[in-house]
Amino acid sequence: MAIYELLFNSTTLTLLGSIVAVYLAVDYWKMLYFVRNGIPAPLPIPVFGTMFSYTKGLTFDLVEKRRKYGKIYGMYLGQACIAVNDVDVLQAVLISRFSSLPNRSKLPYKDAPFDKAVSNAQDGHWKSVRNTVSPAFSGNKLKQMNPLINECCDRLVRNIHKQMENQGFIQCKDLFGSYSMEVVASVFFGLHVDCQSNPDDPFTKHASEAFRNAFVTMKAILPFLVPGLGKLYDLLGVSVTDPKIKRFFLGVIAKALELREKGEVKRMDILQLMADAHHLDSSKEDQTTEDPLVHEGTASGSSQRKDALTTEEIMANAYVFFLAGYETTNTALCLTSYLLATHPEKQDKLFEEVKKFAPRREDVTYKVLSQMEYLDCFVRESLRLFPPISVLDRINDKSDIVIKDLLVPKGFRIFVPVYAIHHDPEIWEDPEEFQPERFNKENRGKIHPASWLPFGDGPRNCIGMRLAMMEIKFGIIRVLQEYKLKTCSETESLMQEVPSSALKMESNFNSLLGKPLIATCKSYRLDKKSKESLLSMTARISQDLQVDSGVIIQNLKNGRLLNVNINKPAPRRRYLPSSQIWASEEHPEFVNVEYFEYVNRYYIETLLALIIYVPTKGCMCLSQGVCVLG
Ligand code: HEM
Repeated sequence: MAIYELLFNSTTLTLLGSIVAVYLAVDYWKMLYFVRNGIPAPLPIPVFGTMFSYTKGLTFDLVEKRRKYGKIYGMYLGQACIAVNDVDVLQAVLISRFSSLPNRSKLPYKDAPFDKAVSNAQDGHWKSVRNTVSPAFSGNKLKQMNPLINECCDRLVRNIHKQMENQGFIQCKDLFGSYSMEVVASVFFGLHVDCQSNPDDPFTKHASEAFRNAFVTMKAILPFLVPGLGKLYDLLGVSVTDPKIKRFFLGVIAKALELREKGEVKRMDILQLMADAHHLDSSKEDQTTEDPLVHEGTASGSSQRKDALTTEEIMANAYVFFLAGYETTNTALCLTSYLLATHPEKQDKLFEEVKKFAPRREDVTYKVLSQMEYLDCFVRESLRLFPPISVLDRINDKSDIVIKDLLVPKGFRIFVPVYAIHHDPEIWEDPEEFQPERFNKENRGKIHPASWLPFGDGPRNCIGMRLAMMEIKFGIIRVLQEYKLKTCSETESLMQEVPSSALKMESNFNSLLGKPLIATCKSYRLDKKSKESLLSMTARISQDLQVDSGVIIQNLKNGRLLNVNINKPAPRRRYLPSSQIWASEEHPEFVNVEYFEYVNRYYIETLLALIIYVPTKGCMCLSQGVCVLG
């Protein structure tokens, strides 16, 4: 009773009320910093700041705010933020003044051991971890990953084939999601998983779960809104990541690491490289190789001192690489496929380059990428138009600094609105247009270095940039070797914003008409069942050929020549409907398949199977476009 009276008497309540009022007034005064200093900014609301001025989501709102407030403006989102769209100021923030702004804003909780990962580390600790793990992403190391990624591409192509057979179109998100996950599992953990064929595989299951929940649980979001909650989590040992998922992945990594340490397994993957770093002599220097493919941040490519990694750091980094590398690459591949499908003439141009430099599986190497300029332009432009990470930040946690006349007080966050910069008409001519040519040799010099930021910039840029570029390019080459992407009624431009200020796309494409010129000829030895299904298919073919199926079979049985004109270039008629396969009027005994390379692969294979099947032991060669039966 006495305590109740003490707590709830009018004097205590007035005192408490006054404290809260003073706190709110001081807080609001801080929020008004921009207004007080004549810096354009939306008017904040007490307690909530400018939170409610974002109605379309951060990514797209930042485009509108750039139009409304100019290149530099203020916001209040839990703390004071300055959005910088001025590329000269940005270059200073990310590169020349990096030593004053080396950190991203801290997560409000530790979520051990992930606080040990390079993405979350701060200052000297970050530098040491980054220097140690960077060599794992050097050009030389990526060359060694070439076969691992090519193996994942094999499964990608097989899965495309399967989806086409089963449903007649491909689902990009599933397809590239599986590919990205397989690359991640292979190059980081040394695991071979076939996500698509085996969705019940524990790795696939846990990984999907981890991505679904990684950033969007209430447990993860609340500490950003409630001051002090993150500290309480740390005190009570609350894990923001689902403990089940954490246990699973840390277990997988620990086991894989143990095998490496014992020397029982040696694979050229990133875990191996980190395991090697576990035993480093920190006094040695490592020389990373300059990469001709991608513009680098200043941390990479230079001579650096490395420190040995602790087991905890290896585990934390492996997990974070996994998280950071999966969704981003998947999104980039989906959106690039979308652009391929919606820009057929550009796809044709890229296809020509593929044909020239990498027509077969074994031509797809890290080295050949440096010759494929248009592919590089295509991917860069895709990442400009749709940067998977649409906003970056740096925190000024040191002291007040002035950058090119802009005062950044201590405690302020700098926002880098990547998407808004990539779509700024003052920086990019016709920014909404997809023009890979912006990045060709002739034009590249005109691009301001801080205006293309899909991987950030400076020493703290994306450590996985080269790997991501390689993975995306390999995937695209291997798909284009076999198929052409085309939109269909299910294709939706579903570019969405997700809570972690990233872009995401869920899209289905119908596609895959056209086996390219480099079609290899398969020999079919058919069993009874296949023969039956083949015969039933001749009915459809004969309908397209407008010839009685008996006539086709008879012609083939008589050992007549089947003329397949593969050398006629028909770039503008690449998607030929199957009725373009016709029986020649002058030589009805000949069946012409014009533009062979562009006709539906499945259809052609059936036709070829038919050719082989009918004379039963036919020998076939495909040379100069003529298919001879003998
Ligand atoms: C298309 C794919 C990818 C995109 C668009 C992307 C984008 C980014 C961006 C924008 C940043 C922040 C850079 C900055 O603050 O300046 C970043 C950081 C990072 N990314 Fe990526 N990323 C991709 C793929 C990957 C992959 C495959 C990995 C795997 C290792 C990875 C690992 C990381 C890590 C560890 C960081 C933090 C680096 C640090 O703090 O030092 N990313 N990424």
